[in-house]
Amino acid sequence: MTDVSGLSIGILGGTGDQGKGLARRFALAGLKVVIGSRRAERAREAAESIGAGATGADNAVVAAECDLVIVAVPYDGHKALLESLATQLAGKIVVDCVNPLGFDKQGAYALPVEEGSAAQQAAAVLPESRVVAAFHHVSAVVLMDPAVEKVDLDVLVLGDDREATDTVQALADLIPGVRGVYGGRLRNAFQVEALTANIISVNRRYKAHAGIRVTDI
Ligand SMILES: NC(=O)c1ccc[n+]([C@@H]2O[C@H](COP(=O)([O-])OP(=O)(O)OC[C@H]3O[C@@H](n4cnc5c(N)ncnc54)[C@H](OP(=O)(O)O)[C@@H]3O)[C@@H](O)[C@H]2O)c1
Repeated sequence: MTDVSGLSIGILGGTGDQGKGLARRFALAGLKVVIGSRRAERAREAAESIGAGATGADNAVVAAECDLVIVAVPYDGHKALLESLATQLAGKIVVDCVNPLGFDKQGAYALPVEEGSAAQQAAAVLPESRVVAAFHHVSAVVLMDPAVEKVDLDVLVLGDDREATDTVQALADLIPGVRGVYGGRLRNAFQVEALTANIISVNRRYKAHAGIRVTDI
């Protein structure tokens, strides 16, 4: 089992629901967590609202100073933000949880991505980084809910670097109830991102915050 207890975790766009939710769970697990934002003041406010020792800084500082960096911005701003931080993110594990989705009257649907998926887009603009795809199906509402002690789901972790995917699986395992499960190479990230559209449909029909479990492993 990979030891991730000494890692500092940075979250780009950590002022949003997903970033704050992940930040909260990792900070509660005892990790050093730094929330990133385009505005440092906003990041500090978000960190204060989470507590548990989380701090805030602007995205560039987070990318430069943290050991492992999670990307939690909307797909719209994803490519440009990562392009601007390629130097700071070189050599680091970069975890992409971005779901490129559109919404219309019929609900959510997967958007086509030129590079294949958001995670592959990250890998294309960050050739010096170790890009891993994970945390696509974790509900921010559940992560933020203090009444939810155990988060009942598996996190599919995809990537081409075994050590990096092992690290991110161990990171996922720090959230009580969660299990990190290797889900394939980065070229298979599209369907994991796209599956979120199905999960949103489930949530709407059943008024739930559904997750997935992989059986027989
Ligand atoms: N919400 C969920 O339950 C959930 C679950 C799984 C995965 N995800 C994925 O996680 C990502 C974040 O979701 P979210 O709901 O937290 O989104 P969000 O609240 O809309 O955005 C997160 C943060 O991204 C920053 N941001 C917004 N537009 C940006 C741009 N053009 N360039 C750079 N930064 C920008 C903002 O921070 P500043 O203004 O402070 O810079 C914002 O607070 C999405 O890609 C989503 O698909 C979400």
